Order: sequence, then C-alpha cells, then structure tokens
Amino acid sequence: MDPTQRLLGACRGEPVDRPPVWLMRQAGRYLPEYRAVREGVPFLEMCRDVDKAVEVSLQPVRLVGTEAVIFFSDIFVPVAGMGVELDFQPGPVLAEPIRKRAQVEALLDVDPRESVPFVFQILRTLRRELESQAVPLLGFAGAPFTLACYMVEGQGSRHFSTVKRMMYREPQLFDALLDRLTTMTIAYLTAQIENGAQAVQLFDTWAGMLGPEDYRRFALPTHRRIAEVLPRDRAPLILYVQNGGHVVDEMIEAGSDVISLDWRLDLADAAKRAGSRVSIQGNLDPTALHAPPEEIERRVREIAAAGSAARGHVLNLGHGCHPDTPVEGVRAFTDAARALGGEA
Ligand code: CP3
Repeated sequence: MDPTQRLLGACRGEPVDRPPVWLMRQAGRYLPEYRAVREGVPFLEMCRDVDKAVEVSLQPVRLVGTEAVIFFSDIFVPVAGMGVELDFQPGPVLAEPIRKRAQVEALLDVDPRESVPFVFQILRTLRRELESQAVPLLGFAGAPFTLACYMVEGQGSRHFSTVKRMMYREPQLFDALLDRLTTMTIAYLTAQIENGAQAVQLFDTWAGMLGPEDYRRFALPTHRRIAEVLPRDRAPLILYVQNGGHVVDEMIEAGSDVISLDWRLDLADAAKRAGSRVSIQGNLDPTALHAPPEEIERRVREIAAAGSAARGHVLNLGHGCHPDTPVEGVRAFTDAARALGGEA
C-alpha cells in the first residue's frame, strides 16, 4: 500500500494496513535546514517564493520521514489577497483591524487564482515532485471563524474579546464577515484541489474557545457550507479545531471526512463517537516530542489503539510542531507509526 492510498484510505474510512503519519507545522523552525532557507527572508516573501516554498515543504519527508506534504504557506496568505494589509511579527498583524461594515464590504471578492497565483504554482510543482514517491499532497485554509478572530482583533489575543464583542453586539456584521470569508475559503480550497491537492485541511484553531451554543451559531454553519460545496470525491476534507473536546459531536456533524483533535480529550471516546461516520486525526501533545523515543513510541501505540474505534485514523499531533521541538522526537514519532505494521 503506497502512502497516498494509505492516507486517502484512512480519510475515507477504507481498509488500510496502518495509520499514515504527518505533522501539522512539519516544515518549520525546529529544522535547521528550514532555518537555513528562511535566513534573512521575511515570512510572506518566503510564502511567495515558489522555489523556497517547494524546498521547505519537501524537507520533512526526507529529514523526518513524514508520509504527506503540506504546502508551505500560512492561512493568512489569501487574506492578503483580499486587499487586507498585513504583516507577520511572527503572527499575523493587520494594519487596520476590521471593525466596521464598510471595511467588510471593501474586502475584495477576487479569484484566488489571480490574487495569489504563486500558491497554485507551489502546489503544481510539489505534485510533480511527489508523483514518483506516491507521497500525498495536502492543501489547507484557515476557517472563517479563526480568520475573523485575527482580522477583527488585528492580531493574536488571549481572550479575543474584541471579536467576541462584535459577535455578541453586532452579530449581523460578524455574519457578513464570516460569509465573505466562507465564500473566499471555498474558492481557495477548490482551486487548490484543481491544482494538485489530494486532501485539504480546514484550520478552525480558535473555534474551540466558543461554548457549544456559539459554536453551533457561528462556526458550524461555515464548516457545513464548505463541506457541502467542496468536491470531496476528489479530495477528502479534514476539519481541525483546537480545544474542541466539548464540540466533538458538532465536529462530526459538520460533514467533513476527518475530524482532527487535540490531546486534551479522550481519543478513545471521540473515536467511538465518530464510529463509522467520520475518520479521526491526532492527537499527540506536540510537547510530548521532548520525551524519550520509547515513551513517544508507547504513546503512539496508545493513540493508534484508541483511534482504531473510528472508521479511519490519521496519526498527527494535536497542534502544530513547536520551534523548540527536538528533531529526534519528530523522527521517533514517524518511526513509531511505521512500527505499527503494514508494508514499508
Ligand atoms: O502545517 C504546516 O506546516 C503548513 C503551514 C502553516 C503555517 N501556519 C506556517 C507558518 C499552517 C497550516 C499554518 C496555520 C496557521 N497560521 C494557524 C492555524 C493553526 C495553528 O497553528 O494554530 C494560525 C492561527 C496561523 C497564524 C500564524 N502564522 C501565527 C499565529 C504565526 C506565528 C506563530 C508561530 O507559530 O510562529 C504564524 C507564522 C507561521 N505560519 C510560521 C509558519 C511556519 C512561522 C514563521 C517563521 O518561520 O518565522
């Protein structure tokens, strides 16, 4: 079974020899080879540089044995394409946070193929490079709620109270922003699939800070709309929410093929609930990659055993790889996945 069959099979709940493995933020600062390419290049410039982006996207396969490639970019790249002025310091910072209706209306309704053409060049190049090894290529986008968090706040925040104020005091304005972002996300992911992405992940990192009622009101409808419209027969959809233990049932109902979970919940319980309806992805704590290799291997076996209650399981972290992660820990993680059995 080749890595593409294994990943797509696990996403769709078809029989596979063992769970495939990749890591969120697998191309990143923990790799000296990434830092060497990145040296002196501003982050957004790196995202627009096709050769460099392709090079760092491919590094983890060779250096740490991951079994899928996620193209190097950031969830805010297409937002810049909507005419929003932003910079990375190192997280996204907007020159003018979106607070008024006129600003929502002024967001450009552009085709991502025209506003961020380099993304699709990166994907096409990666797909060509990966074809011979049958390594699958993943696309991704930020979910509307998570994008809106930064766009309204202007930058990252502990409580996102400015966003929540808009949500509670001006829900129609917030809906209008979510609507524009949902339309953009659908166009962006569809274009990624057309340009070589074989599965796509929707990052709704911050939706987990919503209580169940607000999650159902503001996040779930956007997930549903995206899941309904994307050509999922061509590329399965993975939905990631951080801190989503209280909304697992809502994640299952969103209509994606896979739900990606973090380490704060009981994976065996989530897998049972997912059952035959969706596959699951996760969920090692990224800081556990500091543990000795035997401990990482033990945890991978536990996670795989818990995950086996769902129709399919993709091994991953519960959130992105941190910059201080030891490379040996990442290697121990992917080795442990291969030690679960199956063909080489
Ligand atoms: O998974 C991958 O490797 C694909 C690439 C990717 C990046 N960011 C690269 C990146 C993806 C999928 C993201 C997602 C992302 N970006 C999210 C959602 C998921 C999550 O991790 O929470 C969010 C909220 C962002 C916004 C963002 N971009 C922040 C908060 C930061 C700064 C914090 C940090 O981790 O450095 C970024 C910068 C960023 N995005 C870097 C990378 C590799 C670091 C840039 C650098 O090398 O200095």
